[in-house]
Amino acid sequence: MKTVIIGTGSFAPPRVVTNDDLAEVMDTSDEWIRTRTGIEQRHISDGPGTTWMAAEAAKLALKDAGVEPEDIDIIIAATTTADNCFPSAACEVQGILGAGNAVGYDVSAACSGFIFALHTMDGLMRTGAYETGLVIGVDNLSKVVDWSDRSTCVLFGDGAGAAVVRACEDGDRGLLCGRIGSDGRKASVLTCQARTMGNLLTGTKPEPGYIAMEGQEVFKFAVKKVPECVESLLKSADTDMGEVKYLILHQANYRICESIAKRLKISMDKIPMNIDRYGNTSGATIPILLDELNRQGKLHRGDRVVLAGFGAGLTWGALLVEW
Ligand code: COA
Repeated sequence: MKTVIIGTGSFAPPRVVTNDDLAEVMDTSDEWIRTRTGIEQRHISDGPGTTWMAAEAAKLALKDAGVEPEDIDIIIAATTTADNCFPSAACEVQGILGAGNAVGYDVSAACSGFIFALHTMDGLMRTGAYETGLVIGVDNLSKVVDWSDRSTCVLFGDGAGAAVVRACEDGDRGLLCGRIGSDGRKASVLTCQARTMGNLLTGTKPEPGYIAMEGQEVFKFAVKKVPECVESLLKSADTDMGEVKYLILHQANYRICESIAKRLKISMDKIPMNIDRYGNTSGATIPILLDELNRQGKLHRGDRVVLAGFGAGLTWGALLVEW
């Protein structure tokens, strides 16, 4: 039994905020952001949030797959910015789609979320319990960045990507293998504290929590861990990088991707990029990029691609997919 991606979709809010727009409201510049990160603009939601973006991406993925909402058996949404503590983003999307026969829930692995969700979906599909699934990566980080912290707020954007998957009995294509990992000992280098809850007994008032990051620690972690993970993945599948058409990497920073390419001894031609247009959309970067490649006709039957992500937790993971 293999899990095959049969459709993709993605969505970002229409409002574009350029580096120059940010330089008008904070002490930064297009030159600093562009040279340090590769980001030129990001999409920011000016109202509706995670559920809206996720549902829009999901509708496009269903259309691409030719699947009706009632045919979905399971929805897994990867997000750390669900609109509500509960219900989950997946249940809300289920409601909007009218996917009455599905079960939905969220997974939380920050920027590695889509990899964790797809890996989880693959495990469930292999049991034979589900036939058709919807995996979503979505985040609305603009609502949890500290807009007075220029070292983090310029990095992030909002967006969603989705993939429809189907369990297939035979054939070579599909998810071939996966690796995921986490190291909670390093959790403090990238955090977004939960909203402090009000407390009746102590009189504590609710307060918002924001993203805090030790940028250089995250950078060092990513450029070491991702190549190790990809190499281990390929070894277990008896595949080498020469057989891989694209390494579809989490879009956090152009320079991180360049360093990963260098460590894996591959050219940047193998690493598609769109960070210039979206910034870091956390759990959404990988499915948005996958959808762009799919819609541009760059993925053909038999192509092997590796999806790889890293992020808060610290978490990381990679999946080998035959298209
Ligand atoms: N505009 C202008 N200057 C800025 C700035 C901004 N937006 N943000 C920080 N600076 C300044 C700093 O204040 C510092 O000034 P100083 O030297 O006068 O003190 C200087 O730029 C260098 O800051 P530093 O933090 O050392 O920069 P850096 O080269 O490490 O780059 C990151 C910062 C965030 C771009 C980089 O560390 C990074 O990309 N890390 C990975 C982060 C990431 O990807 N996180 C998400 C993972 S899922």
